[in-house]
Amino acid sequence: MSTASLSAPLNTALRRVPTWLVYLAGLIPLGWVIWLTLSGGIGVDPVKGIEHRLGKIALWFLIGGLAITPARRFLSLNLIRYRRAVGLLAFFYVALHLVAWAVLDMGMLWAQAASDLIKRPYLFFGISAFVLLIPLALTSNNASIRKLGANWRRLHWLVYPAVGLGVIHYLWQMKVISLQGWVWLAVFSALIAVRFRPRRR
Ligand code: HEM
Repeated sequence: MSTASLSAPLNTALRRVPTWLVYLAGLIPLGWVIWLTLSGGIGVDPVKGIEHRLGKIALWFLIGGLAITPARRFLSLNLIRYRRAVGLLAFFYVALHLVAWAVLDMGMLWAQAASDLIKRPYLFFGISAFVLLIPLALTSNNASIRKLGANWRRLHWLVYPAVGLGVIHYLWQMKVISLQGWVWLAVFSALIAVRFRPRRR
C-alpha cells in the first residue's frame, strides 16, 4: 500500500478541520502552562519553569512548521493550509518566552537584562532568531503575499536560519547537551537535509 493511499482518508478528514480550530488547539499548551503555574506544579523555580516550558513549546511549533512540506512530499500528508497557523503560533510562543525572560526573570530592569545578555551569549542567538521571525509574522497575511509576489517566498526562507539559531540557542543553554538536545538537533538537520538536498534533473 502506498503512503498516498494510506494518507488519503486522513487528508479527507483534515480538510474538514477549520483553521480557527488549529489556532484554538495551539493555545492549549499556554493553558497548560497557566494551569501548572496556578496549581503550583510548575516546579521549585516557577520563573525557570515558565520560561523553559514556553521555549520548548516554541521549538515544537517551529520544527512542526518546518515538517509540513516534507510531510506532504514524503508521506502525502497535506497540512499546507495550516502552515500559517503553525508559524504564527510558533512566533507567539517565542514572543511569550522572550516576555517571560524580560518581565519575570529580569523584572524589566534593562541594565540587568543587558548584563545577562553579556553573561549568557546564547541569548543573542535566541534574540536573533526572534528578530528574523518578526518580518515573517508581519507578512504572513494574504495582502502581503499578493504584494510581495516572488519576494514573499524569498523572504520566508528566513525561517531556516531563524529555526537554526533557535536550535543553537537551545543547545547552548545546556551545560551538557542531553539526549533530548541531540534528538532535536537530528530532527532539525534531517528537515534541512530533505529541504536542501540537490534535486535530480
Ligand atoms: C526561536 C527562538 C527561541 C527558541 C526556539 C528558544 C527555545 C528555548 C528552549 C527550548 C529553552 C530550554 C528549555 C528547556 O530546557 O526546557 C530555552 C531557554 C531559554 N531561553 Fe530561549 N528560545 C528562543 C528565543 C529566546 C529569546 C528571544 C530569549 C530572550 C532573550 C530567550 C531566553 C531564554 C532563557 C533565559 C532560557 C533559560 C536559560 C537557562 O535556564 O539558563 N530565548 N529557550
